[in-house]
Amino acid sequence: MNRKEQIRSAYHLAGTNAGFYDGMITCSTLPGRIICGAVWNMGREKNTQYLERALSGIPEDFSGRLLEVPVGTGVLTMPVYQGLPGADITCLDYSPDMMASARAKANALKLGNVRFQQGDVGALPFADGTFDIVLSLNGFHAFPDKAAAYRETFRVLKPGGTFCGCFYVQGGCRRTDWFIRHLYQPKGWFTPPYETEESLRERLGALYRTAEVSRIEGIGVFRCVK
Ligand SMILES: C[S@@+](CC[C@H](N)C(=O)[O-])C[C@H]1O[C@@H](n2cnc3c(N)ncnc32)[C@H](O)[C@@H]1O
Repeated sequence: MNRKEQIRSAYHLAGTNAGFYDGMITCSTLPGRIICGAVWNMGREKNTQYLERALSGIPEDFSGRLLEVPVGTGVLTMPVYQGLPGADITCLDYSPDMMASARAKANALKLGNVRFQQGDVGALPFADGTFDIVLSLNGFHAFPDKAAAYRETFRVLKPGGTFCGCFYVQGGCRRTDWFIRHLYQPKGWFTPPYETEESLRERLGALYRTAEVSRIEGIGVFRCVK
């Protein structure tokens, strides 16, 4: 299964699980598509595009150690992990409820190489240089202590390892910025301060040996090498 098919599988997984969150993050159910369009100015095509880009740091035949933080409900990544039977995968999230849904998906897909651990990205329970890849999808806009999250994700990565993923950046889509400020932030779903595409490029460029940053609407996508 190539990356596009894995993402398509994520839409299928969301459709069949029908969780509201899963439908929204994959832009696959009717309410999900309405929210993607209204808040993020995205349809399925742009949604797929940013996910493909965020996941492009993971080689299709990857067989090293990967940390995903935060895994959330796992809807975006369990189909990807299904295609990586030789990899050693650790998924971490603060919320046991979100992770219970990810674990159920991993069980349904019979993924024996994926383990789950509850924890805080700001104090990762791993030694320095443990992972070949650290993947972070849609997390940094939610993390309360972003400095600690940048520091810890860097620390647990091996020299030469890849840090990749995506999250909300300010200034890419005015409508998105409005919703974040007036709805997502008061609800506690997102926590300021937020990066812009440019500030993210500067931050990651200062930390990593190489850092590629791009943006699709209000989502910043990154791929860095330590
Ligand atoms: C918007 S969800 C993203 C989940 C998933 N990566 C996705 O793209 O669907 C944000 C997640 O961040 C988790 N989270 C928030 N603060 C955290 C922290 N300090 N450490 C670990 N996870 C955290 C939440 O529990 C939630 O599952």
